Amino acid sequence: MLYILDTADRKAIKHCNEFYPLWGVTTNPSIIAKEKEDFWTLLEDIREIIGPDKALFVQTVQKTSDKIVAEAKLLRDRLGNNFYVKIPISEEGLKATMLLKKLGIGVLVTAIFTPAQALVAAKAGADFVAPYVNRLDNILGDGINVVAEIVKQFENFSLDTKVLAASFKSAEQIHKCAVAGCHAATVSADVMKMIIGHPMTDASVAGFEKDWKAVYGDKTILDF
Ligand code: E4P
Repeated sequence: MLYILDTADRKAIKHCNEFYPLWGVTTNPSIIAKEKEDFWTLLEDIREIIGPDKALFVQTVQKTSDKIVAEAKLLRDRLGNNFYVKIPISEEGLKATMLLKKLGIGVLVTAIFTPAQALVAAKAGADFVAPYVNRLDNILGDGINVVAEIVKQFENFSLDTKVLAASFKSAEQIHKCAVAGCHAATVSADVMKMIIGHPMTDASVAGFEKDWKAVYGDKTILDF
C-alpha cells in the first residue's frame, strides 16, 4: 500500500512527511484553491518539502486534449520528473492520457466512480486510476466494492495500472481497500492519524510506563 497525502497545506505536508512513510502528495483544484496562494509558489514549496524522489500529483484544469497535454508538460518541467498529472475521465482526457504516455509523462485518471471507467482508463495507459470511495459511500454506492472490482479487473487482464483510492473519511475505509488489494490510498493528515491510533494502544503504553516507573523511576535505558 502506498500512502499518499491529500493536501496542499505545507504544515500538514511537513509534519506527515517527517512522521509517516509517505510515497507522495496529491492535490486537486479544490485542495489548491483552499490555500488561496500563488499557484507556482505553493507547488514549488511542496516539491521542496517532499524532495525530488516523492511523487507529486497535480490536476489539470483544461478540458481539451491538446491543452491538457500542454499543461501537463509545463507542470512536469517545473515540478520535476516524479510528477503525475491528474486528468478527470472524459473522451478528451483519454486522448490526452494516450498522448502523454507517448511523451513519458505520468498520468492518474481521476474522478472514477465505476469499474468500467477504470478499465478504459487503464487501457488508455493510465499509471493510476482514482476511485472516490467516500463520495460513493455517501450515496450508498459501496466505494469499497468498486475498488475491489477495479483491482480484480486489473488482475484479470494483467494490467500494470495501479488503483489509487481517494476520498476517505475513515480508517475503516482505508483498511477495507487494503484488504481488497488496492495499491495506494490518498488520505488527509487527520485520517492518517486515525489509522495509527487505538485506545488499546494508549492503555497498553500507559501500563508499561506505570510498571517501569514503579521500579526504575524516571530512569530510561539510556541511563543504565
Ligand atoms: C483525490 O485526489 C481526490 O481529489 C480527493 O481524494 C477527493 O476527496 P474528497 O471527496 O474528500 O474531496
